[in-house]
Amino acid sequence: MLQLEGIDNIVLEHRSREHIENRVRAGVIEYGIANLIADVGAGARMRKEGLVHHGIELRFDHQSHRIPLSDLADGRPITVYGQQEVVKDLVMLRLDQEAPLLFESEVTAIGDLTTDRPFVDVSGVDGAFRIRCDIVAGCDGTFGAANRAIPKDLMRRFERTFPFSWLGILAEAPPATEELIYGRHENGFALYSLRSPTLSRLYLGVRPDETLAQWPDDRIWEELTVRLATEEKPEINQGRIIDRGITAMRSIVIEPMRYGRLLLAGDAAHIVPPTGAKGMNLALADVRVLSQALLTFLRGGDDSLLEAYSASCLERVWRAEEFSNYMTQMLHPSYEDEFENGIQLARLRQAVSSRESSTVLARNYVDLNSL
Ligand code: PHB
Repeated sequence: MLQLEGIDNIVLEHRSREHIENRVRAGVIEYGIANLIADVGAGARMRKEGLVHHGIELRFDHQSHRIPLSDLADGRPITVYGQQEVVKDLVMLRLDQEAPLLFESEVTAIGDLTTDRPFVDVSGVDGAFRIRCDIVAGCDGTFGAANRAIPKDLMRRFERTFPFSWLGILAEAPPATEELIYGRHENGFALYSLRSPTLSRLYLGVRPDETLAQWPDDRIWEELTVRLATEEKPEINQGRIIDRGITAMRSIVIEPMRYGRLLLAGDAAHIVPPTGAKGMNLALADVRVLSQALLTFLRGGDDSLLEAYSASCLERVWRAEEFSNYMTQMLHPSYEDEFENGIQLARLRQAVSSRESSTVLARNYVDLNSL
């Protein structure tokens, strides 16, 4: 966005291009965020290859309930398109613009943040160097250099760890569903997603201490089948598993999202559990707000939007935390607390009981970051 407006900027990427382009991540893009990606000129392949979905399914009590997202959210759909595909498209755009994008460049320090000329120290493939600039955008994750540059007594960290993880697989199997299925079964959570007519993306809720070694292919397929089965659709399609991983489920919010000339965006400021499919959407929404604030400041010296950046993002961030927490807690049965399980089922039944109650879920799922 800065590049399109002719503002000099450098992007420092810690990892290699190969690494960031191939790391399999979640893949639901909100309506307004898909438009944002298209508006900056990175949307051509997403519009062509992304799957436009108008609904999702909630499965519980061995029954399936469709939430007609678009009907309930002013006709808006979601786009299912892998996050790493968005990354590839952004890298291509950047290279087309001949704008600086340095891979394998580790930020070792960020300083002078309360002056008007902060610095970033970088250790890159060609050695170490220092960049002096007007503004630093910290988009490097919750344990990155940006976070470390903020004095601990000026930063509050809110954190919640959930007592389960997600085991995710990518399989060469034609999806047995046209829409995403979020399933709650007494054995645990399951999610059926997809990437293309030949690629399925599936997840199982597992205990936090479980390892991939405990989940051979047969056990994964068996458990997915059990957790997702309904009477009408007892089977899912199986195929070769080409990627697998276990991700812990947690929520983090850092307040404020600014320290002097350092502005935090994306995972550097917040983590959500993946159940609401909000992580990348939140990050891109932050960047949308940040770019406007930077343009106003750098063009005319007006810092009012920069001053407002943290508060205006955090309102939206906490809404996304709330939604992600709601989805997570409603869909992951407790292995110990039967009272909690009663509450979860009541919440699910409530969510599908009327147009009114499904509407809140649909709107948040489709476009929370642009509401
Ligand atoms: C995915 O397709 O990878 C996916 C979809 C929905 C989620 C999380 C991940 O909530």
